[in-house]
Amino acid sequence: MLPIFASHRQGRLLHQVITIDDSISADRALRLIRRGSTLHWEGDFQNAKQLLAALGRRLPAPSGGTFHDQRRHQAERVRVLNSLLVPLIDHRITLRRAPDVRTACREAYGAPDGERWVPLRELLGVIGAHQLRLRGVFVPALGERIHPHYSVFAPTRSEYADLVADCPLPTGNTAFDIGTGTGLLAAILSRRGLRRVVATDNNPRAIACARENLQRLQVNATIVETDLFPPGRADLIVCNPPWIPVPPTTLLDQAVYDADGRMLRAFLGTVREHLEPGGEVWLILSDLAERLELRERGELLEMFRAGGLQVAGRADVVPRHRRARDGETTSLWRLRSTGFVSTIGG
Ligand SMILES: C[S@@+](CC[C@H](N)C(=O)[O-])C[C@H]1O[C@@H](n2cnc3c(N)ncnc32)[C@H](O)[C@@H]1O
Repeated sequence: MLPIFASHRQGRLLHQVITIDDSISADRALRLIRRGSTLHWEGDFQNAKQLLAALGRRLPAPSGGTFHDQRRHQAERVRVLNSLLVPLIDHRITLRRAPDVRTACREAYGAPDGERWVPLRELLGVIGAHQLRLRGVFVPALGERIHPHYSVFAPTRSEYADLVADCPLPTGNTAFDIGTGTGLLAAILSRRGLRRVVATDNNPRAIACARENLQRLQVNATIVETDLFPPGRADLIVCNPPWIPVPPTTLLDQAVYDADGRMLRAFLGTVREHLEPGGEVWLILSDLAERLELRERGELLEMFRAGGLQVAGRADVVPRHRRARDGETTSLWRLRSTGFVSTIGG
């Protein structure tokens, strides 16, 4: 084991890179990380995976505590696990028994760019995302597969899509899908016969992903990279915003976490300016934030009221996926304007 680099400030060790190999024990690796070291792995790739798993087992999730306690623990766990790095040269792992990850890395990181050290944990996520993109996720409401890209919200919990497939349509031919992600809801709206569907997202990766999915499904929709709304008005505006109102900590979190519910607030605050007279807003929202005591139901109803919206109906579904909380409910809120607004952006 060879220390490569160390830096000190005011007598405190801040950072130390140590080269390690198959001879290290998980307990020693954990001690080194806890003392501030980053570990560069130069052994066998499969053994590095074993070490990562052994480190993970030494950092079990706390059984109790608040959402914030658990999130703090999770952030520390991720920090520790991300301290085990493996080498990539032009997207090739230069270790024994390593898989070919060039396509997966190109999808996540872009064109090869020489040497870089990446956390093994992140690299396994990149590989998993590539496999999911290849395989796709079967969405019963669409009867087809959707292929998520790296860091784009994957509809593995797709009961909410059933709500969009089953809800009675308002009159009219145009729809916006705000925050389209993979393009799934835009595809369902188009298949339901809406003649003009515009899908937006502010994440360029989601835009590329939606474009690919909608092309594959031969869905005729316009895709626009923008913050919230495209120009014009629609008869139906659908939005499934990130549902947990706390700041995201990673790129992968961004489709699920949204600091202070900013997107939800901005969406509800201005959506009626983008609605045709007689149109409807379909807001899809899990009550998880309420169950975690991060938002109260009254706050949501107040956001409807402040946005000039009234509830025209609601359909609920209980998510079946394995990570759903007991009793968690996802709702499609049908909202209508309490009065027509004549100026867009006004
Ligand atoms: C929970 S995901 C839903 C994705 C997709 N509509 C679905 O139902 O599978 C939320 C999406 O909103 C997008 N988003 C977040 N803030 C946005 C904003 N200000 N404008 C447009 N899209 C946004 C995210 O990039 C993400 O794709």
